[in-house]
Amino acid sequence: MIDKNYVRFFDTTLRDGEQSPGATLTSAEKLEIARSLARLGVDVIEAGFPAASKDDLEGVRQIAIEVGNPSKGEEDQPVPIICGLARANESDIDAAWDAVQHAAHPRIHTFLATSPIHMEHKLRMDPEEVVERVKEMVTYAKAYCDDVEFSPEDAGRSDPEFLYLVLGEAIKAGATTLNIPDTVGYTTPEEFGGLIAGIMEHTPGVEDVIVSVHCHDDLGLATANTLAGIQAGARQAEVTMNGIGERAGNTSLEEIVMALRTRQPVFELETGIDTTLITRVSRQVSNYTGIPVQPNKAIVGANAFAHEAGIHQDGMLKHNETYEIMRPEMVGLNQSRLVLGKHSGRHAFKVRLAELGHELDQDELNLAFVRFKELADKKKEITDADLEALVADEIYQPTEIYKLDGLQVACGTMGLATATVRLVGPEEDTHEFAAIGSGPVDATYKAIDGIVETENNLLEYSVNAVTEGVDAMGQVSVRLEAETGEIAGRTSPQSGARTARTFGGHGADTDIIVASARAYLSALNKLLEASGKYGEFSPTAEVSAPAPEKVA
Ligand code: KIV
Ligand code: ZN
Repeated sequence: MIDKNYVRFFDTTLRDGEQSPGATLTSAEKLEIARSLARLGVDVIEAGFPAASKDDLEGVRQIAIEVGNPSKGEEDQPVPIICGLARANESDIDAAWDAVQHAAHPRIHTFLATSPIHMEHKLRMDPEEVVERVKEMVTYAKAYCDDVEFSPEDAGRSDPEFLYLVLGEAIKAGATTLNIPDTVGYTTPEEFGGLIAGIMEHTPGVEDVIVSVHCHDDLGLATANTLAGIQAGARQAEVTMNGIGERAGNTSLEEIVMALRTRQPVFELETGIDTTLITRVSRQVSNYTGIPVQPNKAIVGANAFAHEAGIHQDGMLKHNETYEIMRPEMVGLNQSRLVLGKHSGRHAFKVRLAELGHELDQDELNLAFVRFKELADKKKEITDADLEALVADEIYQPTEIYKLDGLQVACGTMGLATATVRLVGPEEDTHEFAAIGSGPVDATYKAIDGIVETENNLLEYSVNAVTEGVDAMGQVSVRLEAETGEIAGRTSPQSGARTARTFGGHGADTDIIVASARAYLSALNKLLEASGKYGEFSPTAEVSAPAPEKVA
């Protein structure tokens, strides 16, 4: 029985979101984000596109095992469905099943384009061939898995009558969720709502399946379109944290959740999301992907709850509802509290990290505790936000092929900035290099380049304070692009082409030059790992499931 009052949240941060340029995440980062999404209460986690590379398949499998099953002693706790994306071909579906079968509730999500422009130019298939392929591939997926989702890609520009036919055949073949994507973010809310209403009315068998909506934000309409789809009867929303995703991104999880909650009397719908965790997960996704959140972003932007104008401040002091439609506490803001200090012991530290959702093994705990003590010497008040930044910096990093061992910088108004860097390399060998630059960060990065010797372009550098005050930790995110042709990308699910690779890195420290060095090394280590020269696995290895010719 489908609960008509409940909207399922299908989070695709780790699949569509990770397709954002530069959002490459390590397996450890993906697993941590998946854990956070489960705690947040999402119903489905689309953990990746397993056919893209062996690395992606392994990442999805790990999430299926660890997040898709209840922990020991918590067998009665619900766990999210773990979903893998597959193009409509057997080898992609095999790879998806290979990865998700370990979850208590696995799902295969397969898709094929249905718009005239995609069928003619991308697939080079007739509409009849598309219908046949959908029937065959949904049947193929169903033989593995009860829970099959089908998406007619570019539904927003597809002929509705053709959609009713394709979707009806997908239902007959066993699809249990029909997801309607506005792949290129082209529709308006009225059109998209109308499309969903038409599907609800004319698709044979639709009453027994969940209709889902998946919107892109090319015209800034993803949230409005998703809400219009929900009002027309969709009961699954496909979203990403902070709205990250291809081009202008996907629908933001936080915007849909808070719209449904704040305007409950309008929608009269429930969700399973614990809204108080939104801010934390948003920060985590931003740190790990290296994609900053714009300050005026709804719900999670730095200014989303700030009141600057005097007239607004005056109103707020008299009654907060004059200018505030949601309390910041509802999304977990202003809850960062002083938790630990210089005299806190290892046990208290471990307990607080566990409360924040970080289960560290003994070695990780030792490493993090050393950093905590160093931080406590420099900073009197340590908040949850500091702890999150510290753990992200110390634990959720790529394999450290090169490690920062020392840094000294001279800068100011007299003369050029100089930096001396000491790194420990892959053979535990120590290297030192000094360089001059236009400023301390430039000099530091040149000194690191002098040791690591990997060609790359720095695309983006940003620094943010974790908390307020001059002793705040600085959190630095960088994105860089490999210039060499050696670093092949992964297969894109949409085009089937190999995508160019960019690498994100993050670092945190009370000294922002040290944080900058850590962030740069974190991105360089990802790049070096991807080059295949270090470590056991290279993402440049052959993809496990090449696409058949027609689904290009
Ligand atoms: O935007 C899109 O069409 C997609 C599909 C794979 C569902 O992401
Ligand atoms: Zn998409």
